[in-house]
Amino acid sequence: MERKPLALANWKMAMTVDQGLTYVRTMQADLGGLLNIIDLVICPPATALWPLSQHVRGTPIALGGQNLAPTDDSARTGEISADLLADAGCQYVMLGHWETRRYQGDTDETINAKVHLALKSRLIPILFVGEAHDQDGPVCAALEQQLATMLRDCRPERLEDMVIVYEPESAIGQIAPPSPEHVCTGYECIRNWLSTTCGPAIAESIRIIYGGSVTPEHALQLLECMDGLGATRRGRDAAIFADIVRQIAYAKGGFGSPAP
Ligand code: PGA
Repeated sequence: MERKPLALANWKMAMTVDQGLTYVRTMQADLGGLLNIIDLVICPPATALWPLSQHVRGTPIALGGQNLAPTDDSARTGEISADLLADAGCQYVMLGHWETRRYQGDTDETINAKVHLALKSRLIPILFVGEAHDQDGPVCAALEQQLATMLRDCRPERLEDMVIVYEPESAIGQIAPPSPEHVCTGYECIRNWLSTTCGPAIAESIRIIYGGSVTPEHALQLLECMDGLGATRRGRDAAIFADIVRQIAYAKGGFGSPAP
């Protein structure tokens, strides 16, 4: 089955409203019709969500939150709920990034609670899965264990639109991503687990993309197995990320040429 390729820009704690609007205008001018064949999801800081959502409304560009609170009880100073993200114009929400595990106390269990809250508010989860930097033992076992807990009690038919990002912790913030063999092994483990757990039809509809030190130079080799790519440093630079999006369109749909 054909899965629509996806490009994810996670800006983390950077980009002012003005910078974000300039970025989006540059992407729209650079990519034109290619934006119709790729799902481009931008996850800005929460402060920029509303102005950006006004700008991208009615266009193919979608927005996502970077995290949400593990409860919908509003007594959570400084946090953000799934309903509030949806209200600010998000269609997606990132869950389980390594930084929310390391700095904000996320565990597979809290991520599971967040997946349920996201689905309840009709947000599409972008679920991060990847081995820890000090992980011993086979990569597949680590990924399967994360998936089993993070998706516990989710009805498979609710997961059809879900996006999974395979991102090993040690791959973040490096000069280059790991080898294509490493990345494709992760992809296969995740796809096989989904197939066994959700059934082949639903598993086939779920996009699995790669994140962690993605560069334009490495994009084509990563796309040999992946349905798309996600980036932060190169995802904040409109010219470089447009280059990555062009390569996704070329590798996954035969559109255009990989060169800028
Ligand atoms: P990077 O960050 O693209 O700058 O390596 C990726 C991430 O933290 O998800």
